[in-house]
This record gives sequence, structure tokens and C-alpha cells, in this order.
Amino acid sequence: MNTEKKTILVTGGMGYIGSHTTVALIEQGFDVVIVDNLSNSSSFILERIQQISGVLPKFYQVDCCDKAALEKVFIQENSIVASIHFAALKAVGESVEKPMLYYKNNLVSLMNIIELQLQYEIPKLVFSSSCTVYGEPDFLPVTEKSEIKPATSPYGNTKQIGEEIILDISRNSPLQAIALRYFNPVGAHASALIGELPNGTPNNLVPYITQTAIGKQPYLRVFGNDYNTPDGTCIRDYIHVVDVAAAHVAALNRLLIIPERPQFEFFNIGTGNGNTVLEVIHAFENATGVKLPYQIYPRRDGDIEKVYANTDLSNNVLGWKSNLNIEQMMASAWAWEQKLSTIK
Ligand code: NAD
Ligand code: UD1
Repeated sequence: MNTEKKTILVTGGMGYIGSHTTVALIEQGFDVVIVDNLSNSSSFILERIQQISGVLPKFYQVDCCDKAALEKVFIQENSIVASIHFAALKAVGESVEKPMLYYKNNLVSLMNIIELQLQYEIPKLVFSSSCTVYGEPDFLPVTEKSEIKPATSPYGNTKQIGEEIILDISRNSPLQAIALRYFNPVGAHASALIGELPNGTPNNLVPYITQTAIGKQPYLRVFGNDYNTPDGTCIRDYIHVVDVAAAHVAALNRLLIIPERPQFEFFNIGTGNGNTVLEVIHAFENATGVKLPYQIYPRRDGDIEKVYANTDLSNNVLGWKSNLNIEQMMASAWAWEQKLSTIK
């Protein structure tokens, strides 16, 4: 049996999903090398990863858009067998304000990674995509065969273009890739040592909920209660970040172990269940015992009415399934928020 550890390059490994995935990879016996420019994360996350996993991963503070600096990582770390590329900017509103920043950061970093992986003959890549590629779907639940709708933001477009870049390159090179289309990742690690670190006032629902519960925000604004859904609020497929992390291990194992695969595959990463905003609020209250003040506000521009995943493909082909329910997502997000308030 080959007991040598395989090394995985994790770009954006200090971020929300990347840090949870790093922990999952270490737990599954991989070595991890993190590349992150800390544009949306903090260096203390590295020690937290060590506290949870018992291993301090190698960390390079490098911008993936700086190809020469990124190449040094490839030169120094010659045992890398694959990469998971999380590094990207992800704020939808900011991407509308600063489209060039988003196109450059998200696409140049992807092209650099692919080019170096091909140059160093380690062409296996897992790419962070998003359910945003489906836009407002015509049919629910959305399968991987559902139509890709025109992107509604430069951020969303970087995910669509990113998938297209990978598809085109994989047709004409040894590149082998899996794109994971996450639905709405929420929650935090059971230790409450790592979690989401929103930059300024959060735009996303769950960090806004936990900040309201802890008193950083006066109340939650529920954007619209006149949608065509059971209680009038929007429906999303919220998925625990720990389950999302496990999906990356499954995707990586598929790339490393299964020889007969299409060069490029993509999978929905969700639970398969949709929850309304009001259901999420009630789940938070049930899971934590904390009452959440909220007010109904007008609809938020650009919001999709309802979207949730068909997960047959990821369940059957990746052999991955989500395990954690909405109450567990809320309880862990709350534990993280409480711990965060003690260090900030
Ligand atoms: P995050 O911001 O917490 O993590 C991204 C990390 O990448 C950060 O640590 C940041 O410092 C780093 N980074 C950004 N640009 C970089 C660059 N040029 N070079 C090096 N490091 C860079 O975000 P996240 O929520 O963990 O998201 C990870 C990936 O998943 C992103 O690609 C995001 O677009 C995608 N995604 C996230 C969600 C979500 O809801 N969180 C949903 C769908 C897709
Ligand atoms: C948003 C992005 C998506 C991105 C994802 C994760 C848009 C249109 N989509 O998804 O591309 O991948 O974040 O970064 O921005 N809500 C409230 N009050 C709040 C916040 C949210 O009612 O304070 C509601 C929203 O209207 C929505 C739901 O909660 O119905 C989820 O919102 P959010 O967490 O921002 O995620 P998405 O909009 O699904």
C-alpha cells in the first residue's frame, strides 16, 4: 500500500469554505499547501486550522494573479498532485460597482492556476462554481442539465466564464476538472474556531441573522414577502459548510482515483431542500432559543424567487450526500458568531 501523503494546493484556503475544506482534507490524510492573499481572510485562521486538525498547513501569502509568485509555490512544492481553486472575490454588489476588479481577480487567477498546473503536469483541478449560473430557473429542482441563464452580475459572470474557460481548455489539453456548483453555504465548524468572516455589514442572510442576534444589527430586514412561495419569502437551498467541504474531498478522490471520467464535470452541491427566509429565521430561533427581531422590507433587486438543487448526480457519481440539517447550520453559525465576538 502506498502510504505517502498526497499534497493538495488549496487557493483561498484561509477563506470560509477553503478553511473548512483544508480541515477536511487533513482529516482524510492529505497534506495541504494554502495560497491566499488574505484579501478577505485573516492570518489567525491558520492557527485555528492547526487547533482543529493538529496540523499546521504550509501557507504562502501570494496573490494568484501574480503568476511569477504563484510559480514559486509550484517550484518549491513539488509533491502537489491536484488543486482546489477557491480564491475569488464573491460580493455580488461590489462586482457591479467594480466589474474590472472582479473579472481580473477571478479570471486571471484561474488562468494562472490552470497554466501552471499544465506546465507542471499536475492537471487535476476542482473549481468553486455557484448555483448563480442557473439564474431564475424554469424548473425546480435544478439539475446539472438545467439551462445556464445570462449572468445577472459580473461576479456571476466570472463563474460562468470560469466554467467555459475550463471546458475549452480541457478539450485541448490534459486538464481534468470538476466544478462544484454550491447552493447557499452557511454555518461553521463544530469547534466554532473557523467560520464566515463577513467584510463590513453582511449582505448574506445567515451572517446578518447572527449579527442581529448578537446585537451588532438592530433587526433583520426580510427582503420581500410577496413572492410565489408558501409564506411569500424567497426559497434557497442552504447547505452546511462542513458538508460543502466534504464534497471537495469526494471530488478530489474522484479526480485522483477514477481513471475513466469526462475531462470536465460539474455537480450541484446542495441538500435538495428549499427553505424560505421565514423558515430559516424560525430554524435559528428553534436551534438557539434566541428571538430574532425582523421587519418585512421591499424585494431586493436581483433576487431569485426560488432555487434548490437536484442532487442525484453528486449523490450517485461523487458518492457524496449532505448530512447536516438547517437547525445544525443555524446552531453552528450562532456558536461561531458568539466566539467571534470574544476575539474581535
Ligand atoms: P472567502 O472570501 O471567504 O474566501 C476566498 C479566499 O480567497 C479569501 O481568503 C481571499 O483572501 C482569497 N483570495 C481572493 N482573491 C485571491 C487572489 N487573487 N489570490 C489569492 N487569494 C485570493 O469566500 P468563500 O465563501 O470561502 O468562497 C470560496 C469560493 O466559493 C469562491 O470562489 C466563491 O466565489 C465560491 N462560492 C461561494 C459561495 C458562498 O456563498 N460562500 C457560493 C458559491 C460559490
Ligand atoms: C447571494 C448571491 C449569490 C452568491 C451568494 C453567496 C445575489 C443575487 N446572489 O445569493 O450569487 O453566490 O449570495 O455569496 O446577490 N435576505 C434577507 N435579508 C438579508 C439578506 C438576505 O431577506 O438581510 C434574503 C434574500 O432576499 C434571499 C435569501 O435571504 O432571499 C438569501 O440571500 P443571500 O444569503 O444573500 O444569498 P443569495 O441571494 O441566494
